[in-house]
Amino acid sequence: MTDKLWGGRFTQKAAAWVDKFGASISFDQQMAHEDLEGSLAHVAMLGKTGIIPQADADAITAGLHQLQQKLEAGELHFTIANEDIHLNLESMLTDLIGPVAGKLHTARSRNDQVATDLHLWLKHRLPALKSALSDLQSVLVAQADAHAGTIMPGYTHMQHAQPITYGHYLLAYFEMFQRDYERFTFTQKHTDMLPLGAAALAGTTFPIDREFVAEQLDFDAVYHNSLDAVSDRDFALEFLSNAAILMQHLSRLAEELILWCTYEFNYIEMSDAFSTGSSIMPQKKNADFAELTRGKTGRVYGDLMGLLTTMKSLPLAYNKDMQEDKEPIFDAYDTVLGCVHIFSGMLESLTVHPEKMHDATIKDFSNATELADYLATKGVPFRQAHEIVGELVLKGIQSGQSLQDMSLADLQKAAPQIEADVYTDLTSEAAVNRRTSLGGTAVANVEKEVARAKQILATH
Ligand code: ARG
Repeated sequence: MTDKLWGGRFTQKAAAWVDKFGASISFDQQMAHEDLEGSLAHVAMLGKTGIIPQADADAITAGLHQLQQKLEAGELHFTIANEDIHLNLESMLTDLIGPVAGKLHTARSRNDQVATDLHLWLKHRLPALKSALSDLQSVLVAQADAHAGTIMPGYTHMQHAQPITYGHYLLAYFEMFQRDYERFTFTQKHTDMLPLGAAALAGTTFPIDREFVAEQLDFDAVYHNSLDAVSDRDFALEFLSNAAILMQHLSRLAEELILWCTYEFNYIEMSDAFSTGSSIMPQKKNADFAELTRGKTGRVYGDLMGLLTTMKSLPLAYNKDMQEDKEPIFDAYDTVLGCVHIFSGMLESLTVHPEKMHDATIKDFSNATELADYLATKGVPFRQAHEIVGELVLKGIQSGQSLQDMSLADLQKAAPQIEADVYTDLTSEAAVNRRTSLGGTAVANVEKEVARAKQILATH
């Protein structure tokens, strides 16, 4: 035999560098807390069911508590020789309480143990991510409230399309983040399930009580198929997929903010606290944190793609490939949480330039739809109205005149239905405030939606 915990059937030792290749302790030590928690629940069950004598269960429990204290105090030193967090902790327990520690692994395998640890790890952390997302949503709502009437160009194809309000724009992101929030809530359901008790893959001959363990660990449900319990990483993939979609949202917002604080746009200015300078160009103020978030989106997509690919075609049940599940999850979690925090601070502290935004809507012909709509309400078929206004826009571009600068006589030459009241429809304020359809950009609508958003936040 060799000196490994599983060394009985082995005669040859692996070289240290081979051990290093197979080890996961460098990253799965992040689950030390969860591993101890899982072991405590398991040993409580072993004692309660009489699978091991209560005195032994008590000795193991005391040892695990000592390990918890040492972990908190930063006194546990893990080693590659013991491969992963499960074997490291078991070996430490043996050092503390002697051979009785070996009874802890009765009716358990590392396969259901690692799955349990990962479920617990994510279950413990999803609430903090949801709460950070809520904070970001609150910042968006506060800003939308303050800017319900701040007029700016709305874009399609990155070309000026129709005026909207900055508040309306911000609430679009509120809605996206609300869906993200709901997706994480849904993932909580699939994370809140106990795999422990599946043992290696087939269940166990010992009279275990899985419901009791689930209660101890505050899990909502237990897996009902032992093969599924140890093979399932859907909850992790759901988390990564939600994280990737959330990053997509942040990256779109990042892109727009980066653009809007350029000299050309100058719609907003980042606070100094969320900007960086250049080591050579003294005048520079860069939106580094928005850029970094845009960049980190690629990482999180990579985390999702990595685990999807790892899981592809994997036969049931546990395969060592699945050791690759942890790093993407840990990485995506830290990355997303960091980016969400940064965006809350960045959005809360940036300065808006309402006059620059408004000015950009004056000479850009973004009121062309207003004129076409005006004609349509006067009975001109919309297609024809569209063509008439298109020709007026062309004339305006050639003569350097906006639609609202053209004389009534000139407008009437194009369409005799036009009357003096047209000019009130051609302001950006009218373009915004006439859009009262449900979900439209009218200031009154935005104010209503701000109130609704606040109600949604109150349910978080
Ligand atoms: N370190 C392993 C992992 O992360 C733990 C499970 C190992 N199970 C096994 N049968 N080798 O997946």
